[in-house]
Formats: sequence, C-alpha cells, structure tokens
Amino acid sequence: MCGKVLQIRMAGRSTSAPAKSLKNSGGCGRRAVAGLTRFRSVIGVDIAPSATEQARAAGSDPHLSFRVLDLLDPEQAGALHEEIGDANVHVRGVLHQFPPAYRKMAVESLVWLLGRNGTLYLKELTSSSEAYLADMLNEFGPPLSLRRVMVELFPFNIKWGGLSDADFNELFSSERFIRVR
Ligand SMILES: C[S@@+](CC[C@H](N)C(=O)[O-])C[C@H]1O[C@@H](n2cnc3c(N)ncnc32)[C@H](O)[C@@H]1O
Repeated sequence: MCGKVLQIRMAGRSTSAPAKSLKNSGGCGRRAVAGLTRFRSVIGVDIAPSATEQARAAGSDPHLSFRVLDLLDPEQAGALHEEIGDANVHVRGVLHQFPPAYRKMAVESLVWLLGRNGTLYLKELTSSSEAYLADMLNEFGPPLSLRRVMVELFPFNIKWGGLSDADFNELFSSERFIRVR
C-alpha cells in the first residue's frame, strides 16, 4: 500500500462537529474547492505564498478562502484558531516532508486547528511507499505533472519520506487522540 488514511479526533471531544474545514491546498487549490461539497466553509492553507496566490486566482466562492500558514509554527495555528474556532482539518502528503524532529511541531499546529471538536483527515506516505513508488517509476516513468520534480530534483539526492506505524503511533498517541478509522 502506498499511503495511509486516518481519521482522528481529540480525546474528550464533545458531540458537536465544526462546519468549517481547513485543507492543505497546495498548487491550484483544487482540493480546497472540492471541500465545499461537504463543508459550509473551507480555508485552503499552504506555506507557499505563490501556491496561495495561484489558488486564490482559481477559486471564487464566498465560502472559500486561502491563507498562508506555516504548520511548523504552532503560534500561527493558534492565532487562526482564535479567529475561526474549531475546524475539521484535511492534510494530504504534508507530514512526510518534514524531518522526524519537526513532525511533532506540525502535530501541535493541527491540535490547535482542531480545537476540541474538529476531525483530522490525514493521508500520508508510509515507509513502504518508497518501494511501491520506485516500482511504479520503473514501470511507467514519472507522471507528467511530477516530471520536473522527479527528473530534475530527485537526482540531487532528495529522498522520499514516509511515516512508519511507530511514527503514527508516537505522533497520534491514544492518550491524546482517538482514531475513528
Ligand atoms: C506534496 S504537496 C501536497 C499538496 C496537497 N495537499 C495535495 O495532496 O495535493 C506538499 C504541500 O505542503 C506544503 N508545505 C510544505 N511545508 C509546509 C509547512 N511548513 N506548512 C504548510 N504547508 C507546507 C507545500 O507547499 C506543498 O504544497
């Protein structure tokens, strides 16, 4: 299997669920736009101002907005929570990019954003993703949209990242979090 999908809540959550949703938007913000089919209001967030601008230019809906947010700076997440309250948070393909020591900071940001009642929808590469992706690359070559990154950057020794089961368990301990799925 290439990735892991988890649905996680804070232990001690009450029954009310927030109607707001935050998505790590990345690129054109398509995923944030898609979030509007399930949530009343969606904010796409990314560390890259260029990605945020691109997403803003592509999507115009009064219930959709985009922000620059550094997940490695929990104070920024705390300030956003202060402004919007608890939110459901969708994260895909973000934690695996960080060196292990930084992932805890990202999780602290997620904790801020979820507040007491948000649900985290997390999809991440696992430690077995590397072999799977290497097989796919050997067989089919790089996908068009990722050709530049894979062909120009990976030869410079940029490695795939992936989270092991132990990483997931450490980051989302059962004392603090409830795994719904
Ligand atoms: C592999 S892409 C995934 C994009 C999108 N979530 C998706 O699934 O298509 C990783 C994204 O994480 C963003 N990112 C990297 N570091 C970040 C940080 N510290 N805080 C927030 N976003 C970050 C990158 O700019 C990039 O858009």
